[in-house]
Amino acid sequence: MQTKNIILFASGNGSNAENICRYFQNNTSIHVAALFCNKADAKVLDRMKAVNVPTHVFSRSEFHDSEKFLPLLINFKADLIVLSGFFWLVPEYLVKYFSGKIINIHPALLPKYAGKGMHGQHVHEAVKANGETETGITIHYVNEKYDEGEIIFQASTTLTNNDSIEDIAMKISVLEKDNFPKVIETLLLK
Ligand code: GAR
Repeated sequence: MQTKNIILFASGNGSNAENICRYFQNNTSIHVAALFCNKADAKVLDRMKAVNVPTHVFSRSEFHDSEKFLPLLINFKADLIVLSGFFWLVPEYLVKYFSGKIINIHPALLPKYAGKGMHGQHVHEAVKANGETETGITIHYVNEKYDEGEIIFQASTTLTNNDSIEDIAMKISVLEKDNFPKVIETLLLK
């Protein structure tokens, strides 16, 4: 079978990106070809050095310039673009070109806690403020709107009143690390 290439997109910490890279490190059929990042000082860039994955840092204007940006992705022969903690809206030209090939992970049970600005810690704060007894993760296809693409996978966890925002973040992180690489693998080997 021909090797399938993943391109990761991340904006900050990159614990999911690193987890995905390590999961596929010795896999002969699936390869993490590159990580694209929109922040020059993001921690994820150091993490990628540790796992030997090439990185490309880009600006907002580059992201929206289809003639410049698209060839970069095509060069890596991307079979799947994986947003792993990436917080910008994906431009329409990319959604169209990679139709059904861009996925995102969201730290809540969509359609709850969705939309612009609802990411990472902000989600956990809102979940805590609303006294939810359950939360979880959603992996979904990406369309032109924040968090509205078709859902591929969800997993949930229970919460108690005693759970702090940090506890919620930890429960979500465990679900993400356990499930995201496996869902990617299933999609690519389908
Ligand atoms: C993850 O929890 C991911 O689900 C979330 O950002 C975090 C990134 O952590 N993504 C979103 O909120 C997207 N709307 P990481 O940088 O350590 O992987």
